[in-house]
Amino acid sequence: MDRRKFVAGSLAAVGATVLKGTSQAASEQIPGAVSASVVQQARFPEGFLWGTATAAYQVEGAWNEDGKGESIWDKFTHTVGKVKGGVTGDVACDEYHLYPRDMALAKRLNLRSYRFSISWPRIQPTGTGAPNMKGIDYYSRLVDTVLANGMRPFCTIYHWDLPQGLEEHGGWPNRDLANYYADYAGILAKHLGDRITVWAPFNMPWSFTYMGYGVGGFPPGRSNFGDFLKAAHTVTLAQAQALRSIKGVSAKATVGSAYGMCPAYPKTDSASDRAAAARYHAMNNVFFLEAAMKGHYPNAFVGEPPYELMGFKPGDEKIMYAPLDWVGFHYYTRRVVADASRAGASEGGHFSGTEIEADPATGRDPYTRFSAVMPAEGPLTESGLEVWPRGIYDLVMQISREYNNPIIEMTESGCGYLDGPNEGGRVPDSRRIEFFRQELAELARAIADGARVRSFHAWSLMDNFEWANGQTERYGLIYVDYRDQKRTIKDSGYWYGKVAAANRLEW
Ligand code: FCB
Repeated sequence: MDRRKFVAGSLAAVGATVLKGTSQAASEQIPGAVSASVVQQARFPEGFLWGTATAAYQVEGAWNEDGKGESIWDKFTHTVGKVKGGVTGDVACDEYHLYPRDMALAKRLNLRSYRFSISWPRIQPTGTGAPNMKGIDYYSRLVDTVLANGMRPFCTIYHWDLPQGLEEHGGWPNRDLANYYADYAGILAKHLGDRITVWAPFNMPWSFTYMGYGVGGFPPGRSNFGDFLKAAHTVTLAQAQALRSIKGVSAKATVGSAYGMCPAYPKTDSASDRAAAARYHAMNNVFFLEAAMKGHYPNAFVGEPPYELMGFKPGDEKIMYAPLDWVGFHYYTRRVVADASRAGASEGGHFSGTEIEADPATGRDPYTRFSAVMPAEGPLTESGLEVWPRGIYDLVMQISREYNNPIIEMTESGCGYLDGPNEGGRVPDSRRIEFFRQELAELARAIADGARVRSFHAWSLMDNFEWANGQTERYGLIYVDYRDQKRTIKDSGYWYGKVAAANRLEW
């Protein structure tokens, strides 16, 4: 199953003056678009950390070099029929070898923060035991290169590539993984914590537990709602134990998050739809955040949480309590949510959220009982996500309100468009520029209204391996030609570089 339906919809082509800071008239036709004056007035604070993000499996390649073990993504992509086009991450962007060149390109774009992830099986090939020093050396060189190019290294400890050896011990539903993971995080902090001070334990924990264990669209490809709940609970414990093990060895460390979030709007103003939207928010957005900040799960379920199914033990509240130093999350798109408590059958077919049918008998999970859809009122990107700039404002303000105005890191946002080099060798991806211009104007509004946002990481520095969609989606500011690994900075990359230098969207 694809995480995102591929929809060949697109924004109306916008004018050619893409490198100038001027807003295009076309944006006025986008439902939900901000006005030209809002774009013009947008300002970002001095020292704002403009960045980009990548993930190990999506860019590194070198899947079996220098002692690296097999990950669940290696196994998945090496299985026929799992990835569109049959492509794998064996080579991907060959970042394992080309990182000096790519970090120099990031510097050319005036970037100040680089979010990357570490591949667990490069460090511990089967998931436990002594570290593979060649793996440590690679990340040590990468971090030095990031710093030498004037960027802050922002480390995601786990971006979905579990050592296959641990999957063979039951994977994330096995709570022993919380301890193994905390050991792994401690190894990283010990060897890299002199230079990395910003750590996010998990990228999108809801997604990889749900997609991997609840519905099977990601490795290891299981589809059992109970396994999803157990996996999620192990990850909650792991997140907190990792925070303690990192801080135990690195005094400079700060620990936050890289959660995936979609602002949830109730379908109608009825009390039941509003309650359903709140359950969506609890389950899909803040499940792991609330657990860390408050030591208990938010109200994601109709009735009592299914503690037994989750493998929850007395005393776990204490283990999972680990207040974060800052809150990091992604914004891509929004959801409209309705109550499904009384629905006879699932509305079905939606691709994210517990909205995917989980229970074969009822067609939905029996605990959260909402139906969430991604509307198509705004235009869809070529990767099939609705463009809804206002969503970032609403989400940032909501998290600011609910968690006592924390420091916020925008860990990802971006859009999939397939534009490639034209005959002149330029990549005129004006739709991506318009996407970021609109969204950043909304983010600037949230900052002006008091949100303490200190960074924004565009997904992604360069086109890369897009999980089960393989190479059919391109999210980069830099175009990658997978035939020869040639890089071409897209028009959006040059534009973003100017934004980063000016702290504004028009100049
Ligand atoms: C996010 C993932 C990232 C990438 C983008 C497009 O959900 O964190 O790895 O796939 O989507």
